[in-house]
Amino acid sequence: MLGFFDSGLGGLTVLREVEKRLPRYAYVYLGDNARTPYGSHSHEVIYKFTKQGVTRLFKEGAQLVILACNTASSVALRRIQQEFLPEKFPDRRVLGIIIPTAEEIASMTKTKEVGVLGTEATIHSFAYPKEITKVDAAVKVHQQACPLLVPIIEAGELEWEGLDLAVKKYTDALMRNSSKIDGVILGCTHYALIEEMFKKHLPPSVRVIAQGNIIADKLADYLSRHSEIESKLERSDRRIFMSSEDSWRVRHLFELFYGKKVDIKKVSL
Ligand code: DGL
Repeated sequence: MLGFFDSGLGGLTVLREVEKRLPRYAYVYLGDNARTPYGSHSHEVIYKFTKQGVTRLFKEGAQLVILACNTASSVALRRIQQEFLPEKFPDRRVLGIIIPTAEEIASMTKTKEVGVLGTEATIHSFAYPKEITKVDAAVKVHQQACPLLVPIIEAGELEWEGLDLAVKKYTDALMRNSSKIDGVILGCTHYALIEEMFKKHLPPSVRVIAQGNIIADKLADYLSRHSEIESKLERSDRRIFMSSEDSWRVRHLFELFYGKKVDIKKVSL
């Protein structure tokens, strides 16, 4: 199976695009809804939570896990790949979503000035500036943390004017850095759910980059180059949705964000 991990619901925006691109595989999704948001926690806590989530996905049968969460990708991925997998699961793989997104924006910018919006942990890790400037050292990266957004989105308050105001506050703060910014990464998978709100508040000359399509293309490419992993993946229409919390809110939000009703399997991490 292909596994997807997020602190909560944001990873569903990536899963939806990947499923469209690669429909013949079986998928298992895990949202750590009991402990979301991760974005304002310390690196140590995010690493511990992510390791627990990945372990649970492996137990369910995932051969390859995508950290469909920028916070986990920027803070925990390297340690998971370098310390945790070699010791505990040498034949499984975990991939993140920062590098493919960084490559995309570095190759599209004409003005060589770009913006990144994300959680506090993602922004303070400097994962995006590091990866973008690896591709093109001339690109200037402006960053803005948006700590209010994930809690409001996880509360399901997508229509609330307070959310609109918060998006405006953060996009205005980002654009105050430079009027030359021509591309902005929505560097948190939750933000893809309110992509239109970002577009409304950013100048029309700015290209808004959400991650679903980018990750779908990169994953298809990865699987075509790694037959040792691809050959182990289950081919079926099986879908498993796991959450560390099962409540009315979580069930309602899974349906809202995935686009159809799903059965939630409650798991302990
Ligand atoms: N969806 C996440 C991300 O991409 C995590 C948000 C959070 O838990 O704070 O960063």
